[in-house]
Formats: sequence, structure tokens, C-alpha cells
Amino acid sequence: MANIRFYHDAVPLEMHKAKIVQRIHLLPIEKRVEANRKAGNNAHLLRNEDVFLDMLTDSGVNAMSDRQLAAMMVADDAYAGSASYFRLEEKVREIFEMAYFLPAHQGRACEHLLSKVFVKPGMTVPMNYHFTTTKSHIELAGGQVKELVIEEGIKPESTCAFKGNMDIQKLQDLLQRTGSQNIPFVRIESGTNLIGGQPVSLENMRQVSQICKDNNIKLVLDASLLADNLYFMKVREPLCLDMPIKDIIREVGKCFDIVYFSARKLTCSRGGGICLRSREDYQLIRDLIPLYEGFPTYGGISVREIEAMAVGLEETLDLDIISQGPIFIEEMTKLLIEQQVPMVTPAGGLGVHIDCARFAPHIPQKEYPAGAVACALYLAGGIRGTERGTLSQDRTQGGEEEPADMELLRLALPRRVFTLSQVKYAVDRIGWLYENRELIGGLRFVDEPSVLRFFFGRLESVDAWQPRLVEKFRKDFGDSL
Ligand code: F0G
Repeated sequence: MANIRFYHDAVPLEMHKAKIVQRIHLLPIEKRVEANRKAGNNAHLLRNEDVFLDMLTDSGVNAMSDRQLAAMMVADDAYAGSASYFRLEEKVREIFEMAYFLPAHQGRACEHLLSKVFVKPGMTVPMNYHFTTTKSHIELAGGQVKELVIEEGIKPESTCAFKGNMDIQKLQDLLQRTGSQNIPFVRIESGTNLIGGQPVSLENMRQVSQICKDNNIKLVLDASLLADNLYFMKVREPLCLDMPIKDIIREVGKCFDIVYFSARKLTCSRGGGICLRSREDYQLIRDLIPLYEGFPTYGGISVREIEAMAVGLEETLDLDIISQGPIFIEEMTKLLIEQQVPMVTPAGGLGVHIDCARFAPHIPQKEYPAGAVACALYLAGGIRGTERGTLSQDRTQGGEEEPADMELLRLALPRRVFTLSQVKYAVDRIGWLYENRELIGGLRFVDEPSVLRFFFGRLESVDAWQPRLVEKFRKDFGDSL
């Protein structure tokens, strides 16, 4: 975050300029109704050409830098031994200071490999909070997830600077109860995705690391959202205030035995990777890479993306670059709170998070309030967000609905993609929707997959609430798109 002061009102100031842009369109609301119907009320099934502001995710859609694009042009195409791979490997070593690296085609591929190698039936994987694909892979391997985030983590409104921290006492109790032989590894997700992109402090990582060392258990970092987390460490954690980002990453790296990441997020490219300290762990996973990913010098990633990953990793060391997401998210959260919209606070990384338990308290959790608000917002403004609540959680093995801790609608702010005026447009439509929230009704499945149901599931509205919302839109906005 550049040290630039404003004479009047401060705004989040971009330290980049756009050189290539993409034309986008806003369909009339009647067409949005039709697109939403075809998508089965599921934002994942919308066609992007029917979306105005795509805030579904920041995964694989962050804007790349000119340096990344330039690097892609000099990629070395080879099945085995590509120079691009060795450039990436060197960068990973330099940044995380780990001896070994293995590429995988994206973050969930890393989770698949780690679960396959380390998780055995009946084992428990303690973590601050689960991510959808992480949990599914651990369960597919016969294990179970135990969430140990601090209590403050699942309170939507809070002043806690590091809501993603692990509860140390809970970890110690769990280790005692379960026994270290039944724990393949402990996992920390830096920048907890499902509870508002909330960060974890360096101090907390160090404490967890010490406990894992004392108990001879591996500690694994999911670094997919580490860039935002580094920014929060730098500006919120006294320990890190005077440390350059490079030193903070180094200190983070020291806490872990294994670091994996989705490069779709961390490096604004595509791909993923696993960094490892031990040769034994490396060999166990390496042997599976040709089977599931590709030869270990590309791991299912195009060599062009590998070049972009290397440059993207280097760019995570630049505070001006990594602060762009968090300062826009903070601004959008502030503007929404000014419209009285209930938000997760403090603002975290990845995107803004609307607390739909308070936005639409009249919709019961079994009718997916956050999913319903997501649909309503697409209708109201052509804005596509992601449900992060009960809908994103699969049923228990007994077929029971498992109500989520929080009912969030996440509006991702992919880095360097949206302008402040687009953010203000979104705030305006969300403010309108909040005033008209009584018109929003629930959803129910008409087609419900058993695993990761939020990707492909199709839903219908519980009563015919959508035409009422459209009617009110036309009344208030006239012939506006
Ligand atoms: N871990 C975290 C914390 C993530 O946020 C994601 C992806 C993954 C792992 C899986 O990585 O997509 O490369 O396979 N999150 C995306 C999102 C999908 O929209 O939040 P991937």
C-alpha cells in the first residue's frame, strides 16, 4: 500500500494501469430472469456472457501483469526438463526456503495427492477451517476433518484482527484425545476462504508449529490465499510491522513441513504446487505425479502458465501489488455498511462477504438464504457471487442437511479487474436489494448431487418470489438495464 495521502477523502488507489480490457454487457432484467432459470438458480451454471460483474471467484481470473505475460512468451516447451519448470522451482525455493517442489494442475490436485498419501481410514485432520475440496478429498480417503478455529472466527461481526487463528487449547485437547498416530497432519489455511477470507497471524502459526513439533505431527499450509494474508500480517500484526514481505514469508515457511497452493489464486495464473521439506514425503508424492498430473516438470500445467507462476510468486513480495485486493475489499465493505447491509467484519481477503443470516433472516437455513440472495443479486444487477453457506456443504452420510456456521454471500474482487465505479454500482444494487429483502424467498433442490452439490445442483424458488422482485425493480429503476 503506497504511502500516498489525500487532501480530502481517501480512496483505495491502484498502483497499476490497464493496458488490455474486455467488453462486458448488462442484459435487461427480463433476460437475466431467463438466464437464471436456465442455470437452475445456480450461479455456477450461468454463462459468463450473461453476467455483467463476475464476482464468482478470484480463481484463475485475476488480471495478470505485463511481466507475467512477457514471461509466458519465453516459455520452454518440453515434456521433460523444461527450463520454465526449473525457473519456477528456483523461485519457490527462494521464497518458501523448502528443498523440494512438485507441480500439480491446481490446488485441489495438491489436496488429492496429500490426502491419498497421508490420510488413512479413521484418521482425523485438524484444521482452522475446512475448504470444500479439501474436506471432500480427506473424506474420500476415509478421514475426517476437525475444525478448530477460534470462536471469534465464526462471529460475523468482530474486531478480532486474525479471525482465522486456530484455537491452541482445542488443538492440544484434540491431540490428547485422538493421539498423534491418528493424525496424518494438521492443516492451516492462511486466509480462511469459507468464513470470510479471514487471516491467520504469524504468532498463531508459530504456536501451532511448536505443538506439532512436540507431538511429531506434520504441519501443512494451504497458501492459496497467502498473498492477502501477508498483507494483513504486515498491517495488523505488531510482530510484522517492520518486516519486509519477503521476511514475513520466510518466517511463515519456517513453521511448516509442507506448503501447497492454488496458483489460480496465489500467483494470478493457473496451476498449483506442493513445497516439501522432507525427501521422504517428496518421494511418496512424486511417484503419483506422472499418474495423476503429468511429468513432474510440468504437472499438468502449461509451460506458459509455469512462467507466469514464477513471476506471480515474485510479485507477491510487492506490498503495492498484494494490497490492491484487500484495500478494495475494505472500501466496498465500508460502502455496504453505510447502506446498512450486514457484513462480515473486519473485511478480509478474496472478496466482500454479506451476512445473509441477517440479510434474509426470514429464509430458514434449509432454504439456503445465501443462495437465494445470490440469485436475487444476479437478477437485480447482473452480478454473480458465490454462496458460502449451507448450500456449499454436502449432506451428512446419513443424508441429513448440515446447517453451516455462517450463511455468506461472497462477492469476490479478483485483483486489478474491477474499477471503483463498478464497485459503487454493485454497492448501489445491493443497497436496493437490502431495502427490498422481504421480497426474496428461499430455494430448494430439484437435482442434488451428493458430492460438492453447489457446483452442479439445480434449484427452484420455494414460492414464486422472483416475478415480484422483477416488478419492484421495474417500478424503482424504470427502463434501466
Ligand atoms: N484451498 C483454498 C483455500 C481455496 O480457496 C481453493 C480454491 C482451493 C484450495 C482449491 O484450489 O481451485 O486451484 O483447485 N478456491 C476457489 C474459490 C475455487 O473460488 O474460492 P483450486
